[in-house]
Amino acid sequence: MEVYSEKQQIIATIEALKAKNQTIGLVPTMGALHEGHLQLVKKALANNDKVVVSIFVNPTQFDNKEDLVKYPRTLENDVALLKTVSATSILVYAPTVEDVYEGNTVSKEFDFDGLEFEMEGKFRHGHFDGVGTIVKRFFEIVKPNNAYFGEKDFQQLAIIKKLVEKYNIPVNVVGCKIHRETNGLAMSSRNTRLKPEYKKGAPFIYKTLKTAKKHFGTKSANKVSEWVEKQFSKHDLLELEYFIIAESETLKPVNRKSNKKSYRAFIAVYADDIRLIDNIALN
Ligand code: PAJ
Repeated sequence: MEVYSEKQQIIATIEALKAKNQTIGLVPTMGALHEGHLQLVKKALANNDKVVVSIFVNPTQFDNKEDLVKYPRTLENDVALLKTVSATSILVYAPTVEDVYEGNTVSKEFDFDGLEFEMEGKFRHGHFDGVGTIVKRFFEIVKPNNAYFGEKDFQQLAIIKKLVEKYNIPVNVVGCKIHRETNGLAMSSRNTRLKPEYKKGAPFIYKTLKTAKKHFGTKSANKVSEWVEKQFSKHDLLELEYFIIAESETLKPVNRKSNKKSYRAFIAVYADDIRLIDNIALN
């Protein structure tokens, strides 16, 4: 499996593939790959001739320096894991900051029609400028036919769709379902940093989301939120940062429920110093 660290090389390889009419799928990641990432890769392999997996811990999307420093970096393992999925059809692009940014800084000019001001945008300042900048850069370098993103980061997926629409980028963005541990915890690279007691406690997040979904059938959004906040206030390990019920399209917090709209609940929780996010479709 070829691991590219320089964009000129991967650009040349992709050009040669495209000249042979091969289709390219892109799965952008920050590495520390787990089964959730592999689901995206498998879906990409099923629908493209070749799949580029980018592995890059993007510094500009971290608002917390310590989170960036502690983010797991396991390139060798990641490559070994990808080989188990396909030894012949995956190209890894693992650039340095200089290679991918070329001295350019983060773009602060993005307008994602307000999607960027909700939830993660409120709690992680500048996060989506960083994500938008790097994903746009990867689209320019790889020029994929299809690109794959997880619903685990539902707001990110919505923002990437908006980015593609606004900049007329010729790529089909494919959303993929959240992959969970058998205990319900959404898989995340950050889970590897959880101390045992927090790992044991963290499935409470999804369990609460599922019950919130049940309550949403009969209760108002406010009542459901109050109920969730109460559950977390009683929990001795997990600290709730936000629980928000929003319209799936606009990501605006729900005012009055309408049968015609689709809603989702979004949650961010601290387990010790590790921030975990999850979400669930409500109707
Ligand atoms: P990362 O957190 O590594 O995730 C890479 C992709 O895998 C994202 O699209 C994410 O939504 C998806 N993913 C992660 N865990 C998942 C799970 N349990 N089930 C389904 N999909 C899952 O998201 C990023 O990296 C970065 O922001 C990136 C887009 C690479 C830009 O730097």
